[in-house]
Amino acid sequence: MSENEIKNVHPHVPIMVRDILSYLPKKESPTDPFIYIDGTVGYGGHSSEIIKSIDSKSSLIGIDQDDNAISYCRNRFSEEPRCEIVKGNFSEISTILESKSIPHFNFLLLDLGISSFHLDSSEKGFTHQKDEPLDMRMNDSLELTAKIILDTYSDDELTQVFQNFGELRRVEKFVETIIAQRGKLETTFDLITSIKKSFYFRNKRSVYLRTCAQVFQALRIEVNQELHHIKHILSQLDAITVPGSTIAIISFHSLEDRIIKQFIRTHSDTFIACHKKVLTASQNEIKRNSRSRSAKLRVFSKINPDDIPEKRKGNKYKKRRSKDNISVPDSII
Ligand SMILES: C[S@@+](CC[C@H](N)C(=O)[O-])C[C@H]1O[C@@H](n2cnc3c(N)ncnc32)[C@H](O)[C@@H]1O
Repeated sequence: MSENEIKNVHPHVPIMVRDILSYLPKKESPTDPFIYIDGTVGYGGHSSEIIKSIDSKSSLIGIDQDDNAISYCRNRFSEEPRCEIVKGNFSEISTILESKSIPHFNFLLLDLGISSFHLDSSEKGFTHQKDEPLDMRMNDSLELTAKIILDTYSDDELTQVFQNFGELRRVEKFVETIIAQRGKLETTFDLITSIKKSFYFRNKRSVYLRTCAQVFQALRIEVNQELHHIKHILSQLDAITVPGSTIAIISFHSLEDRIIKQFIRTHSDTFIACHKKVLTASQNEIKRNSRSRSAKLRVFSKINPDDIPEKRKGNKYKKRRSKDNISVPDSII
């Protein structure tokens, strides 16, 4: 099925499904009920495949912060007794599990970022290709919007957002233009006008498109506090996992991937990567679904302490100082 055919059925095409399924944890005893969590259930693409591979004793909890995704999935899985859909932020995972008296999970998937529905139909200003209000909230109950950021952040704060989350250089003129336009920037096309006034594209459309994408990405990450939520869920994992619990995270931004990679490195006494190099989509998948081009998948699982050789236990401190353990400063998260 082509991307368009799949999109006619559901509003989002899931990425790297086969890889994800190949890492579902194996049960030691068939009677163990396993808990699977899809922390970014979206339109249920990954969840529907996971559900097909799990037994009748196990269950899946799908979490999303977006109302559209929640009502879509409640409807999609209404006939599936093993599946429960919860509205919330994945960074509230401990509270969600506690409210259901579930002490730990066996598998967690995070497919980070926004869905195709956000880009194509949400009318929240996630894309520079349509004229929409400067909103960018995945969760309507958040207060911060892209417009509030543009209207109220200081010169320094705007610079930090565009440099750190958009990986843009030379943003002084852009920040100046935004500040001069305060109160008048209402829609994405107003923002595009400021972008056009402020950056030099070397007469290349590709540079123009990349700059727009970087500006939009930076604002979206700030509005939704995306890096903060990733850090927060990672900090809870040890307490809500058992040996064998597996975590699969698909990210689309180098800062996200760095946070995950660094977490696995610095917690090598508790978690182990399930593969050597970061996993990416196949050429075939990229052809079918261009969104998979920048996807990076990392899978790691909780170690059984009895399986760690004594030598490695003593290595904990050394590992934390490994040379490419690049830290992401807290100030930008
Ligand atoms: C890439 S889509 C997931 C698509 C899904 N895997 C599928 O196959 O349909 C990302 C989803 O995660 C949700 N999301 C992003 N950050 C979140 C967070 N911190 N907590 C809960 N949901 C989040 C978004 O609302 C969006 O629906």
